[in-house]
Amino acid sequence: MKTTIKKLREHVGESVTIGAWLSNKRSSGKIAFLQLRDGTGFVQGVVVKSEVGEEIFAKAKGLTQESSLYVTGTVKEDERSALGVELEVTEVEVLHQAVDYPITPKEHGTEFLMDHRHLWIRSKRQHSILKIRNEIIHAVNEFFYNNDFIKVDPPILTGSSAEGTTSLFHTKYFEEDAYLSQSGQLYMEAAAMALGKVYSFGPTFRAEKSKTRRHLIEFWMIEPEMAFVEHEESLEIQEQFISHIVQSVIKRCENELKTLGRDISKLENVKAPFPRVSYDDAIKMLKEKGFDDIEWGDDFGAPHETAIAESFDKPVFITNYPKDIKAFYMKPDPDREDVVLCADLIAPEGYGEIIGGSQRIDDLALMEQRYEEHGLTDDAYKWYLELRKYGSVPHSGFGLGLERTVAWISGAEHVRETIPFPRLLNRLYP
Ligand code: 4AD
Ligand code: MG
Repeated sequence: MKTTIKKLREHVGESVTIGAWLSNKRSSGKIAFLQLRDGTGFVQGVVVKSEVGEEIFAKAKGLTQESSLYVTGTVKEDERSALGVELEVTEVEVLHQAVDYPITPKEHGTEFLMDHRHLWIRSKRQHSILKIRNEIIHAVNEFFYNNDFIKVDPPILTGSSAEGTTSLFHTKYFEEDAYLSQSGQLYMEAAAMALGKVYSFGPTFRAEKSKTRRHLIEFWMIEPEMAFVEHEESLEIQEQFISHIVQSVIKRCENELKTLGRDISKLENVKAPFPRVSYDDAIKMLKEKGFDDIEWGDDFGAPHETAIAESFDKPVFITNYPKDIKAFYMKPDPDREDVVLCADLIAPEGYGEIIGGSQRIDDLALMEQRYEEHGLTDDAYKWYLELRKYGSVPHSGFGLGLERTVAWISGAEHVRETIPFPRLLNRLYP
């Protein structure tokens, strides 16, 4: 019977066949231990010479790292393995003998591993991170489906910018100029006026010359947009959403989190409600923590975010930033014209901003005024203004960066490990 490593537990005592790659091997003259992987998991295959005979033992012993094979064996319970079982091998069929696999069990430098990303993703650590990424994607879709959001796919090729013009990727659209999407938000606002509660989940692009552990050139963003939802209600949805994601990963990725050595106690805490700190109070906190240079009106960098997050054991919302350092579409606070109804959600443990969101301006005259202040005279935005002409309503939305979320939950140092093929400054290969 053909099965997968993940399902071996259901076949204790039976003879099964799995298709696998050899990730590592130890052997003596009498016994060989094969570390096998098939994408669904890792298992040890034990080959005993006196049981299988000379020929099969020689085949097993001759296997090189990353060779592919069909292995047949009896599933045996084994307390010591993470999976709870191992395979007593009875038959080996070599499919392909790999030659000089470059990533050996010894230490390799980051650049070497990045050059071999197409192979590096086979390793146990990368496997665990990509599994967690998959679980987060599942939890995102599950949360929105259960809460009556409709998934809408905004275009990737656009004629306008959503998040300022400094980080736009330019391309030609036949004779016209076009840009790769920085955010689907403006289109999602149109979709919210049609369908109520919507979300998008797709690739976004920022031509930023940032070389930090939090920045990718191409990253995936989840962007909900909600009609008739005001700022404070949006924050409540955000904290429920993040709690659902974190608790789902804890529940379904126990082995992966263990492989990564993640401190799960820090994640177990991540349950709504999350603390809220106003930008004004954040400035005071930073001054108390010794950031003497920071002034009201300054934007926060990574060290500021980390310092604020340190005071809390959950993600923290920083709310109501000065309007001059935020996007043109954010609604001013009705009680205070100099700040906007927005929030950034800062992850704990130094992982930085994972969500940026706000209530949107719904008044046509104010939006037109903002356009002028931002020099957005382009016709490309005409349709966006029309949303404020035909049944405008209060509405809010936010964007969650997938890779920063994966980095935080899996405990990865750098976002380069959180996406299969990262696009970084100076890296387009492989
Ligand atoms: O704060 P940002 O720029 O917000 C927007 O794009 C809004 N239009 C979202 C919305 O309201 N619909 O980006 C949102 C999130 C950030 O908090 C961060 O998690 C992630 O996207 N992000 C990046 N992730 C990796 N690399 C980059 N260069 C990123 N830029 C933003
Ligand atoms: Mg932001």
